[in-house]
Amino acid sequence: MSKAKLTGAVVAEHNTKDSCWVIVHGKAYDVTDFLPEHPGGQKIILKYAGKDATEAFEPIHPPDTLDKYLDKSKHLGEVDMATVEQEEKEVDPEEAARLERIKAIPPLAACYNLMDFEAVARRVMRNTAWAYYSSGADDEITLRENHTAFHKIWFRPRVLVDVENVDLSTKMLGTKVSIPFYVTATALGKLGHPEGEVVLTKAAHAHDVIQMIPTLASCSFDEIVDAKQGDQVQWLQLYVNKDREITRKIVAHAEARGCKGLFITVDAPQLGRREKDMRSKFSDAGSNVQVGDDGVDRSQGAARAISSFIDPALSWKDIPWFKSITKMPIVLKGVQCVEDVLRAVEVGVDGVVLSNHGGRQLETARSGIEVLAEVMPALRERGWEKRIEVYVDGGVRRATDILKALCLGAKGVGIGRPFLYAMSSYGLDGVNRAMQLLKDEMEMNMRLIGATSVEELSPSFLDTRGLLAGHSGSIPSDTLGLNVYDPLEAPRFNEKAKL
Ligand code: LAC
Repeated sequence: MSKAKLTGAVVAEHNTKDSCWVIVHGKAYDVTDFLPEHPGGQKIILKYAGKDATEAFEPIHPPDTLDKYLDKSKHLGEVDMATVEQEEKEVDPEEAARLERIKAIPPLAACYNLMDFEAVARRVMRNTAWAYYSSGADDEITLRENHTAFHKIWFRPRVLVDVENVDLSTKMLGTKVSIPFYVTATALGKLGHPEGEVVLTKAAHAHDVIQMIPTLASCSFDEIVDAKQGDQVQWLQLYVNKDREITRKIVAHAEARGCKGLFITVDAPQLGRREKDMRSKFSDAGSNVQVGDDGVDRSQGAARAISSFIDPALSWKDIPWFKSITKMPIVLKGVQCVEDVLRAVEVGVDGVVLSNHGGRQLETARSGIEVLAEVMPALRERGWEKRIEVYVDGGVRRATDILKALCLGAKGVGIGRPFLYAMSSYGLDGVNRAMQLLKDEMEMNMRLIGATSVEELSPSFLDTRGLLAGHSGSIPSDTLGLNVYDPLEAPRFNEKAKL
């Protein structure tokens, strides 16, 4: 006989620190002992003590979280949800306005480029979700430079080339793809769309491109792998846990489930401060609490809370160990200078992603495309350009950006936020359109520069003198600084004396 369901009233009795039960997806859990261990602090759980926490829980925790981290004895069973008191929610005027904007959303066909999705997403996403996705480190100069940097490179097209047939396909880590971009890893997909990362899996399949699965996804790793179709290829992005046994298991599991590349994130020993994200404070999730009872500062947005396991001690010394635990090609994601690329070749990894983490980590780190322009000549000088695959991400919004990276010598580019914005605004149709727009742009621009295949692309199609000018040219403006700066004044004329 099945166990009787718990009533809302019984759960509601356990609403204190000494006995704290919460409901998630119709089931009750005793989290009393877990409170001090919760990476996001205890206050946020206590806010839902005795209540239904599903809405706050859902986007931040993959569905297998409770099975993994909470002992089975604390899983109390099903709750009769009809008996759970519905909380009267105050109508937040900002939220009401957002819902009105969703009703008036532009038709998908009105989005002609990747920036258009960003413009729509900004107006239809929840504030906290927008703040998390869109934020960058400090003054967001690197965030903006990532895109601006592409504009320092100009084309030197060839004419009178027969470009009737253009082939956009290429190979990345041995996998044939229809166009040289991949969906790079981005955290917390359910902040943007209730189905989360599996939406990206479906679009990646439809367009025959690779998806990199994020460690910090909202969907579980297995859900994302289960969503793949046919011989679709996925890679794993890895945040390395202080407990290497956990990391070893994650890597082994990914390999067993068919992942074809291991991308170890190396630019985030500590997560950057993203002030937009911090300012929005995940008020939905209650982390507007500055300092928890344990004295730990939890004020830095969801990202810091969910990433507290990342090992800042990760170093070059660990690379042989990674090579010993997997046969997947290993790629270091977040390399930012020539010296480290050369070292990556020496330690024998298969690739690097020149990336500054979408401008979310070290402020005034240089753009990946600028670093690429230094890296490739250094590799060619040593005859090492075939020993490692070089990828780049950050700021890619147009096929001309992709072409520039390929002409310089990249095997492909990663695109993250634009697909999240397309997904958050229009779901799967949005991501499909975003990818199709890139393909259309790419085909046209290949014709216009006079190249019919990816192999033909070379530095001779580019004028990179703008990059050589270094940072004396266009620098994204320091908006915070400029807004608070009280400008010096010139001597004043005595206007009255004129009269
Ligand atoms: C971020 C991490 C989690 O940039 O990748 O937010």
